[in-house]
Amino acid sequence: MDTTIARGLAGVTFDTSEICFIDGEQGQLIYRGYDIRELTDATFEEVCYLLWHDDLPTADELAAFTRQLSPGFAVRDEVIDLFRALPAGTDPMHALRSAVSLLAAFDEDPDGVDDANLRRIGRTLLTQFPALVSSFERIRNGKEPVEPDSSLSIAGNFLYMLTGERPSEAATRVMDVALVLHAEHGSNASTFVARSTASSLTDAYSAITAAIGSLKGPLHGGANAAVMRALESIGSVEGVEPYVLDVLAKPQGRVMGFGHRVYRVLDPRAKILEDVSKTLAAESGDSRWFEMSLEMVRVMDREMAAKGRQVKANVDFFSASVYRMLGFPTDMYTPIFAVARISGWMAHLYEQYADNSLMRPRLNYEGPTGRTFVPIEERG
Ligand code: ACO
Repeated sequence: MDTTIARGLAGVTFDTSEICFIDGEQGQLIYRGYDIRELTDATFEEVCYLLWHDDLPTADELAAFTRQLSPGFAVRDEVIDLFRALPAGTDPMHALRSAVSLLAAFDEDPDGVDDANLRRIGRTLLTQFPALVSSFERIRNGKEPVEPDSSLSIAGNFLYMLTGERPSEAATRVMDVALVLHAEHGSNASTFVARSTASSLTDAYSAITAAIGSLKGPLHGGANAAVMRALESIGSVEGVEPYVLDVLAKPQGRVMGFGHRVYRVLDPRAKILEDVSKTLAAESGDSRWFEMSLEMVRVMDREMAAKGRQVKANVDFFSASVYRMLGFPTDMYTPIFAVARISGWMAHLYEQYADNSLMRPRLNYEGPTGRTFVPIEERG
């Protein structure tokens, strides 16, 4: 029996997939054969279609797909009641996970794992995620939820249901780019959790709630909010260097938004988001967050090079300043990641259920052996 341990499952390949290819040495991210740098010209709906089918849609296919999606944004009263019942200060990721769990109870067939039913659930969740995140944000601020506008896209409806105002084309485009960049990333922690959960042939809602829980962690999707909290605590460009040196001086010190299990060069998504951040800084006249981010990259590049490490900014790093300049509260950054990643999670569930194998790895036991049971009244 092979007892070799791959901690964190690093380097372990558990299946094949046709959805996403990542070249961590070249800094390439490919969705079904298309480079992510080209896909930022597409809408989020086009990219969802690509992830859920073999190719990008034709105009007719896209129209049919969006027609299927448009009724799905309305939030049920029971979910609104749940949001109202949650205690003040509830983290939006807890709210999202709870709402998705509740949706399972109202689904006509939550447990069916045949492809047609899974795709129906996928369409439900793809439209519900933006609606849930924006509705919760309003309710926790004492505002009434906004009814969706079925003529708007996913990005557009997210912004509309958040603000109650029809978003500008420019804002919708930035949102689309952010959603496309966060849509899919192979066997990342939360996607693996989704596939692993599904592998017991439990239902898709259970797999997705588990994935939301995984995404929330600061080593994964939660890093974008951690980046902004760090920038807020630093407060100025001059404060960046001492902050980074202080973090790196600690045992296991990790600067949030840097490093990746797969990339050894710059994450291509980070470069695109850096450009978006730069543009937003110029347009808004407030370049503070962008300048601090650039300084952090400079110091990290220098320090990591000195240690001979390849630790570059990841997707969560510049998304923090982008979301800040778009006006989102910090604890909404990770839920926005989830609004995008539900597309990738569902694409992987379609694959997993179609050709399933129960995920059941082993642990090497290192505990005691050969003990003799002693009745409780005789234990000292
Ligand atoms: N800050 C400082 N040093 C780092 C960082 C970082 N963020 N990331 C990696 N390193 C260095 C360390 O020197 C480490 O060496 P050490 O163990 O001798 O200290 C070496 O690189 C390897 O780091 P690991 O954490 O062991 O690498 P792993 O592949 O396990 O971790 C991870 C990847 C978890 C993403 C890590 O880089 C990290 O904690 N980053 C910060 C959190 C973050 O930004 N997460 C988002 C990732 S992208 C996403 O999930 C969407």
